Amino acid sequence: MVQSRNARSLIVLVSYHHRNTEKIAQAMAKVLKAEIVKPSEIDPSSLKEYDLVGFGSGVYSAQHDPSIIELAKRIPQVQNKRAFLFTTTGAPTIAMNDEFIKSNHSKLRTILESKGFVIAGEFGCRGWNTNSFLKAFGGLNRGHPDQEDLANAEKFAFSLVG
Ligand SMILES: Cc1cc2nc3c(=O)[nH]c(=O)nc-3n(C[C@H](O)[C@H](O)[C@H](O)COP(=O)(O)O)c2cc1C
Repeated sequence: MVQSRNARSLIVLVSYHHRNTEKIAQAMAKVLKAEIVKPSEIDPSSLKEYDLVGFGSGVYSAQHDPSIIELAKRIPQVQNKRAFLFTTTGAPTIAMNDEFIKSNHSKLRTILESKGFVIAGEFGCRGWNTNSFLKAFGGLNRGHPDQEDLANAEKFAFSLVG
């Protein structure tokens, strides 16, 4: 179920560590002509006004930010609505694959599916990580998201709207 570029789209974003995920969200928002909001800026019942809703954040303790999870729990049941999930992760290249990306999304995915959303796609890429002891070594994934990550995010967004 691919929708036209006239579909009304929204991105709910939390990106506080290095604004890594914000860069990805902006690349997607440009393609989707989507507004980007924080979870605190949106009434969960108003999400039904959108055809396509993206939920993105850094990976924090192996999941989306808790404020996104809490928002998802408060969304009333929907019908014929599509959602997509995206994250940036501080994990090293060797750990990056679809399975790892999706495992970080699993809590949010389960909640959204229980609300009736169809998950239209999932995206993940590396993001600069200086959390905890990593700071002492200059962090992991310095320079990410890079131009290739942003191009992949754009490509992903196009795939959602045909
Ligand atoms: C409190 C905290 C917890 C984190 N936990 C994880 C984690 O469990 N797995 C992981 O791969 N990266 C983890 N990271 C790294 C972030 O996912 C990564 O740096 C991400 O790109 C941050 O996105 P942001 O700049 O949009 O906030 C964590 C970072 C922070 C600050």
